[in-house]
Amino acid sequence: MKTVRYGIIGCGAIAQRRHIPEAAANRRSQIVAIADPVRGRAKEIAEHHGAAAYTDYRKMLKEQKLDAVAVCGPNKLHAPMTVDAFKAGLHVLVEKPMATTRAEGKKMIAAARQARKYLMVGMNQRLMPTHIKAKEVLDSGRVGKPIAFETSFKHPGPDGWSVDGPKSWFFKKEPAVMGVTGDLGVHKADLMRWLLGEEFVLVGGVISTLDKRTEKGRLIPLDDNAYITLKSRSGVVGSMNISWTNYGGEDNGTTVFCSGGVIKVGKHKDFGVVVEYRNGERECHQVGAVSTNTRQVASGIIDSFTDSIIKRRKPQIDGLEGYRALDIILTAMEAAKTGRFKKIAR
Ligand SMILES: NC(=O)c1ccc[n+]([C@@H]2O[C@H](COP(=O)([O-])OP(=O)(O)OC[C@H]3O[C@@H](n4cnc5c(N)ncnc54)[C@H](O)[C@@H]3O)[C@@H](O)[C@H]2O)c1
Repeated sequence: MKTVRYGIIGCGAIAQRRHIPEAAANRRSQIVAIADPVRGRAKEIAEHHGAAAYTDYRKMLKEQKLDAVAVCGPNKLHAPMTVDAFKAGLHVLVEKPMATTRAEGKKMIAAARQARKYLMVGMNQRLMPTHIKAKEVLDSGRVGKPIAFETSFKHPGPDGWSVDGPKSWFFKKEPAVMGVTGDLGVHKADLMRWLLGEEFVLVGGVISTLDKRTEKGRLIPLDDNAYITLKSRSGVVGSMNISWTNYGGEDNGTTVFCSGGVIKVGKHKDFGVVVEYRNGERECHQVGAVSTNTRQVASGIIDSFTDSIIKRRKPQIDGLEGYRALDIILTAMEAAKTGRFKKIAR
């Protein structure tokens, strides 16, 4: 296969800002069709890319000759859309959170296996140059062993991001299921698992709805802030603080406290990664900006998935990785409800 023919399911913000332009910029991928129930939206974007427009993604799967789809609809639809695409014999890039329940996640992984197709989850934090550099520093062992971490992901909320603004599915219980936990929490759960190279075994936290309101002025029916504590198998402890009410901008920073010093990621305006050694020495890496909602940097997700399809290589972030991040967040939500720490089952 020389070119991957993509169908896009849901052409909202993530599709318009990342997947569609990134596929258009990749000479080995092509946007063939776009499906979105908002007819004008699908039509306008499809015309711009010389693609076919659909209001029903199932019709697109039936009529178009595709190799893969990018599933970019509301959270609750990720699982049925993914399973339908596997049944149509396609590879699937699904946005995060991959699913809203463990059962859905398992079903998606099984459907990929049965179809003998790839499943990738759009948890793009791992592909950011700052995070790749931080991983390289950690893995080199030159800062010693990780002891603890603090990671944040906080922005003003999806009402300023979604194509439908405050009316979007993000603020509705049934299509979203999870609030900031499903939106930003899975990203950070995945990032920290990957950075530390091990699993989390214990989680607890406070998950609340504090301030985010619908356009009618009512508090949203989903969480908007989560302060989560985690412990890894080897005993590394850390906090993951995520918020949709950071009205001052965006914070996507991480600090890893190690036996030989501290690694600061996304904390310094000029240097994406700063290492402060125990002996007072400093190592500064200019590795580019961390992508924010208002300052988008190419995510690399479509490039990575296209590469894996063409080279027949397992995706960089496969279904199991998506499942593990989801499991951490679902366990955190269960723990928060009881006010007790909960073990993450394996
Ligand atoms: N990886 C990331 O960094 C990242 C960032 C933002 C959003 N996301 C994820 O991407 C997904 C989409 O979010 P978004 O920000 O693009 O939201 P959005 O509100 O901007 O767009 C969602 C789109 O889905 C469409 N849609 C709704 N029902 C559909 C259906 N049945 N079939 C096809 N399309 C349908 C809507 O009409 C809309 O155009 C979410 O799961 C979200 O969590 C990922």
